Amino acid sequence: MSQPTIESVLNEKRLFAPSAEFSQSAHIKSLEEYQQIYDRAKADPAAFWAELATTELDWFEKWHTVLDWQPPNVKWFDGGKINISYNCLDRHLKTGCKNKAALIWEGENGDSRTLTYAQLHREVCQFANALKQLGIKKGDRVGIYMPMIPEAAIAMLACARIGAVHGVVFGGFSAEALRDRLVDAEAKLVITADGGWRKDVIVPLKEQVDKAIANGAVPSVTDVLVVKRTGQNIHMSAGRDHWWHDLQQGVSAKCEAEPMDSEDMLFVLYTSGSTGKPKGVVHTTAGYNLYSHITAKWIFDLKDTDVYWCTADVGWITGHSYIVYGPLSNGATTLMYEGAPRASNLGCFWDVIEKYQVTVFYTAPTAIRSFIKMGEHHPNTRDLTSLRLLGTVGEPINPEAWMWYHRVIGGGRCPIVDTWWQTETGGIMITALPGAVPTKPGSATLPFPGIIPDIVDLDGNPAHDNEGGYLIVRHPWPGMMRTVYGDPDRFRKSYWEHIPPKDGNYVYFAGDGARKDEDGYYWVMGRVDDVINVAGHRLGTMEIESALVSHPAVAEAAVVGKPDDVKGEDIFAFVILEGDRQPSEELSKELKKHVVNEIGAIARPNEIRFAEALPKTRSGKIMRRLLRSLASGQEITSDTSTLEDRSILDKLREGA
Ligand code: WTA
Repeated sequence: MSQPTIESVLNEKRLFAPSAEFSQSAHIKSLEEYQQIYDRAKADPAAFWAELATTELDWFEKWHTVLDWQPPNVKWFDGGKINISYNCLDRHLKTGCKNKAALIWEGENGDSRTLTYAQLHREVCQFANALKQLGIKKGDRVGIYMPMIPEAAIAMLACARIGAVHGVVFGGFSAEALRDRLVDAEAKLVITADGGWRKDVIVPLKEQVDKAIANGAVPSVTDVLVVKRTGQNIHMSAGRDHWWHDLQQGVSAKCEAEPMDSEDMLFVLYTSGSTGKPKGVVHTTAGYNLYSHITAKWIFDLKDTDVYWCTADVGWITGHSYIVYGPLSNGATTLMYEGAPRASNLGCFWDVIEKYQVTVFYTAPTAIRSFIKMGEHHPNTRDLTSLRLLGTVGEPINPEAWMWYHRVIGGGRCPIVDTWWQTETGGIMITALPGAVPTKPGSATLPFPGIIPDIVDLDGNPAHDNEGGYLIVRHPWPGMMRTVYGDPDRFRKSYWEHIPPKDGNYVYFAGDGARKDEDGYYWVMGRVDDVINVAGHRLGTMEIESALVSHPAVAEAAVVGKPDDVKGEDIFAFVILEGDRQPSEELSKELKKHVVNEIGAIARPNEIRFAEALPKTRSGKIMRRLLRSLASGQEITSDTSTLEDRSILDKLREGA
């Protein structure tokens, strides 16, 4: 098994068409229908989105301007008033969904809960009132650092309901990483839990919050709201910390949704880039609501009878768009699972599918590759016949893993949607529509209607068929990010200036390499910048390097991705020690632990190689492509003429 290489996927000729039965009942039923919608949207994107905004969402007030595009700044549906919590909850109470399951939750320790739309609405209203009691107002930022429990979704929807901006931080990030994000967002409140279950252990979330904000490190935070999940002892700081179940006593369950301007900020979500600290990706209300709604509806083909399960964490964009907002805006039943496959229950995912008769299942290639390793026995001993549609996201899927997913999990009958998108894009951009587009293993296939991608070189010239290049998007879309929180300059530089605009036409630079085949199918190859994708988690090499050099023993560090069978990429660090510090196994362990403390377990280097010097160009730039070859034990075939000191390479190799 390996990552798709240009050679392996160039030879991929297998084509899988949806069954007639699937297509007949799908929202989009044929390739012709897709093509018609696509062409119409391309001819007049604003009209296309305006029509969907009218038919798919409820508005308090209609917009006056559909699209105002002053690159790179965009406004969608300007003048409109809307609330995403209203679209996810209130409107479904009037249409017969009232007693339908909105959220099914399965805890790792066997606890479970189902909330109907009426119950979820009630809980969100109460939570929203509790936020108001704590002095949270429209526009205030609220940090959410939670396990995968219903209260995470409730907290998000409650913030959206009163117009507070949520900033969810993945519960696997360390106290340090949490602190950075809370400081950047100037959060007033942090919502957390006493703990959460993950792989049979309790993650001490509240303890991490205490560490993150200790000694006034985040002066903006005045309160901490704590949900009881695990029941272990935690410290509650009088005046600052509040139990959710205490606040809940006596708060009203009536709370009207605040009419928000279309472009009011909905959330900020931090993600890694190639330079500097993680950036706060800003999404706003109406465009994000529409985009997450319509992509969820057409791509996951959501029907009233579906039980839809996305295995992501709400700490990532996939959890935002496709656990919470997209499915709920459609009135669907969304399933949330707290745990992960673990030694004590390798088959837990299949148990959940069997127990709840899941119909649509959305996960990551890295998970599929680890299922392959665990063995077919686990899925084969469960009843998976309820499944009708499968999806993947987060990284390229190698054709072998695709075939396994199709055969073993999908029983050969379920279409697979391989969905390409990013935190920045708000929703899925390139994907098959499952009843319409025949799939090829390893290809994300075709763009979603209204999305105009292309493959270009660095001057912006379109690439030929099957020629590799940079993936870009040509026209604004409603779900696109609006800015980097507090840093509009970084927004412009990161996404709009790598490829020069032609005739005033700006293009969005995704940071991925890709090619388009003779059928117009997209094959995404992976990042072209210094971002690595470890088990579907996006990490900046620079972040890990900064973590390493913040250790007193380290003088310099360079981090690269090394191909890995299961994780896609693994973290390989070259480290130069300070003065007379000597390399040792203990120091290597200590440095790995240090990175875990600085960022979180997802950033733990798999391998550290101590070196005397790093290969640099004459102008002092680290030659990462050489380090990548060294890390994966490949021969160095590329040009080394710009390398300042060639003996460095031999020494680095000897270090192995
Ligand atoms: C990668 C996750 C290939 C890509 C939604 C992108 C993919 C980055 C795919 C965004 C896919 C995501 N095929 N690569 N189907 N989906 N990627 O922001 O490199 O966590 O730029 O968003 O994941 O990661 P992010």
